Amino acid sequence: MKIITMFISVVVIAVIVVTGFVYSGLYDVGASSPHSGFANWVMSTTMHASVDRRAKDIDVPNLDDEALQLAGINDFDSMCAACHGAPGQDPEAMGQGLNPPAPDLKESAAHSTAAELFWVTKHGIKMTGMPAWGSSHDDEALWPVVAFMTLLPKLSADAYQAMLASAEGSGHHTTDGDSHSHSDVASESIGHAEGDQPHHDQPGDGEVTEHSHSTDSHEHDESAGNKEKQQLKHDHSGDDHDH
Ligand code: HEC
Repeated sequence: MKIITMFISVVVIAVIVVTGFVYSGLYDVGASSPHSGFANWVMSTTMHASVDRRAKDIDVPNLDDEALQLAGINDFDSMCAACHGAPGQDPEAMGQGLNPPAPDLKESAAHSTAAELFWVTKHGIKMTGMPAWGSSHDDEALWPVVAFMTLLPKLSADAYQAMLASAEGSGHHTTDGDSHSHSDVASESIGHAEGDQPHHDQPGDGEVTEHSHSTDSHEHDESAGNKEKQQLKHDHSGDDHDH
């Protein structure tokens, strides 16, 4: 009986201490200070175990398909590089302020299966800034970017730029003005049905940043387009609709 009373007292005290800490405001929620080693361990272990378990039953299509990979690089460039960076490119301002930081996907691709990359891309990760792209894209629109990610471990900065240039018009984030159509190549490769739901690819999509797809649609020449993009990266005027 004594043991039960003691056990209940310990539990009650623990609940009071934890609740007190939560309400005290002592914990620094600012993204500007790093997570403690313990919080890091809890988050990253929980994340990896959760993704491992959930990615197990995913059927991976053939990703060794150049058309799919070319479609994926455009999607990667417009949907992912701002936070994760790309070969030879640091993350943009938004990505630099994330905590936990968005990892270099070159490393992630070297250590993850395609199914795991797909699961994270589709479902995102709670409380980290990694969006669930599946809420705006169907599976067929996400496999190209996964196919592309599998190439990252071997892709130099120059090869990335060259591939990006040759991918013009591929993917559903095209540089040729039809910014949200799913390209025929990608569709044929994985049997994607046209006319799926509208996409909203970035937080605040199309309002303030260079990722507005209306901006992309004015890039006639790839290198000029890239330059234009670089300039727009620092232009937060929000006036990107009337070029
Ligand atoms: C708004 C910022 C942001 C954007 C945009 C973004 N991510 Fe992420 N992503 C993150 C963050 C932050 C993490 C780290 C989460 C963590 O530490 O648990 C992450 C993690 C990941 C991971 C897991 C990496 C690993 O090593 O376990 C994958 C895979 C991933 N992102 C893929 C993508 C893809 C593909 C896109 C584009 C379609 C994308 N992300 C766009 C912020 C972003």
